[in-house]
Amino acid sequence: MDLILRVKEFYLLELLQLKMYETQLDSLENDYVRHAYERMIELEQGHVEFYKNYLIENNIDIPTIPGGLMALAGKFIGKSLDLTSAENRYKLGAAVETKAIEMYHAFILETWDDPNFNRRLWHNMIDEELHLLWFKDNQKSFISSKKYI
Ligand SMILES: [Fe+2]
Ligand SMILES: [Fe+2]
Repeated sequence: MDLILRVKEFYLLELLQLKMYETQLDSLENDYVRHAYERMIELEQGHVEFYKNYLIENNIDIPTIPGGLMALAGKFIGKSLDLTSAENRYKLGAAVETKAIEMYHAFILETWDDPNFNRRLWHNMIDEELHLLWFKDNQKSFISSKKYI
């Protein structure tokens, strides 16, 4: 494993989550959802900073995203972003978080011998798990609330 390459990859994975949630802030359906997104954005910002600082400390250039958010989504989840409805937003959020958790499983095993670094990966992954649960739960209540309209 090339650790620097992996850190660059995870920097982009976290940037995808951060940018994806930031772009949705103005179109969210209510205050509760907006606060939930704001909190997720804070956590994703922390994840991005962790990898960014690691690269800076090692004098490595921070990767840029040619093609922006859409290209980034294609790279990690293989589909374009349709964030026009709440249902799609929850589905995409769940897809991105599922991909992140899967990638963290591998990265945690690869860095087992570095307890401090490894611990941070566990914590990031658990944040992603909580995000996934939130998206799944809200997707469920969104779908069931539509039944009664
Ligand atoms: Fe994250
Ligand atoms: Fe996340």
